[in-house]
Amino acid sequence: MTNRIIDNCRSQVKRIYDTFDASHDWQHIERVLGNAERIMETEKADPFLVELAVLLHDVSDPKYMKNGEDLEKEILESLGVSEEQSSQIAQIIRQVSFKGGNGEEASSIEARVVQDADRLDAIGAVGIARTFAYGGAKGRNLYDWEEKPRNGMTEQQYREEPTSSATHFYEKLLLLKNMMTTETGKQIADERHQFMLSFLEQLKKETDGNA
Ligand code: NI
Repeated sequence: MTNRIIDNCRSQVKRIYDTFDASHDWQHIERVLGNAERIMETEKADPFLVELAVLLHDVSDPKYMKNGEDLEKEILESLGVSEEQSSQIAQIIRQVSFKGGNGEEASSIEARVVQDADRLDAIGAVGIARTFAYGGAKGRNLYDWEEKPRNGMTEQQYREEPTSSATHFYEKLLLLKNMMTTETGKQIADERHQFMLSFLEQLKKETDGNA
C-alpha cells in the first residue's frame, strides 16, 4: 500500500521536475532522497513521510510556480494518504524552505531530516554546480565582487532582487553549515563547506588576474 502511494507520487512529480532547470530537476530529488536515507541511518524518522515530503518539496516552489497553481496540494490529495499524514507532509515541506533566512523552524524529526537532506544538496561541489545552473537559467552574472551580500533581508527582497551567483554563496550557501540540525548533516556539511570556501578563493584569484 505505502509502496504504491510512493510509486504513484514518484511518477507524478518526475514529470514536473523534468521541466525544471538542472538546479531543481529530478536528479536533485534523487540526491536529496539519498541524503535523507543516510541521515535516517542514525535518526529515527518515519521513512514514508520523509520520502513523500522529499518527492513533493519543490513542486510548488515559488521560483517555479505558475499563477494560481498548487501542484503540491493537488498531488497530495490524489495519493489517498490520511488527512493527518497529508498535513504532516505539508508541514515538513513548509519548514524545509530557506526563505532568505526567514524560514520556519523544523518541529519534527522528519522535517529536520528533509531540511538537512535538501540543504546538503545546496552546498559542496553539487551546490556550486546547481548555483551556476540556476544563475544561468535566470541570466545572472557569475560574480560581482562589488556587490555587498545582504543579511537580514526580507523574503521578498531575497526572491525579487537577484544578485550574482557568487554573491549567493555569501547570502545563503555559506550559512547552511551552521543550520544543520542532525549529526550526519553536520558531519557531511563540514567537508562540503570547506570545498566551497576553496572554490570561492580560487574564483576570486582567477577573476582578479592573480592565478
Ligand atoms: Ni530542494
